[in-house]
Amino acid sequence: MWYDVFSLFYDRALEDLYAPFRPAAVEALHLADGDAVLDLPCGTGQSLSGLTEAVGPGGSVLGVDASGGMLRRARRRVERAGWSGVTLRKARAEDVDAALVEAALGRPHVDGVLCALGLTALPDWEATFERLFGLVRPGGRLVLFDVVAAERTAATRSVELVARADFSREVWRPLRAAADDVERTDLPADPKTFGGQLYVAAGTRPA
Ligand SMILES: C[S@@+](CC[C@H](N)C(=O)[O-])C[C@H]1O[C@@H](n2cnc3c(N)ncnc32)[C@H](O)[C@@H]1O
Repeated sequence: MWYDVFSLFYDRALEDLYAPFRPAAVEALHLADGDAVLDLPCGTGQSLSGLTEAVGPGGSVLGVDASGGMLRRARRRVERAGWSGVTLRKARAEDVDAALVEAALGRPHVDGVLCALGLTALPDWEATFERLFGLVRPGGRLVLFDVVAAERTAATRSVELVARADFSREVWRPLRAAADDVERTDLPADPKTFGGQLYVAAGTRPA
């Protein structure tokens, strides 16, 4: 799969750009000590450091990705850091359900879901959004960290090509329809570099 190839240079090419903005996505999850959080797609584990810190030593983080190459790097990151609360699973987003979460974490729901640079890259993204939102416990949060390009520039096309993404998708819209309190915050990132506007959108699952 292309993402196995992409995993070979993803962090070297891009992580210095994204890293400064990732804390805003983790903060928007409103996680507490002992919480469980799903990171999908987890890529090479770029968000794991912030997530493990947010849930503390008693919490758990489940990272899921379909690419073996991405997961290998995520595993290496977890081993190097010695994070005992992190579980990684290879699965397609289309197949992630409460049974997978329960098998990995011992509970079918999570306190938060982070979908970072995910819904613009995943197939059948609207169905995936519904499934992910259904995995959040009532009162828990789903956070999107993604890019939208209202105007399609050469930068948009080149980032889309490398990331196999579609930045015309307004992926926060189903979240806005499903939760009452959705906020979309544009991040101070140069659209020329990111191929569009980088933002965080977050909402709470109604009780
Ligand atoms: C643009 S990268 C984002 C990675 C990471 N979340 C980040 O913030 O940098 C998209 C990720 O989606 C994963 N992916 C692509 N199709 C997938 C699918 N059908 N199911 C699960 N993961 C998938 C890729 O392997 C890749 O890690």
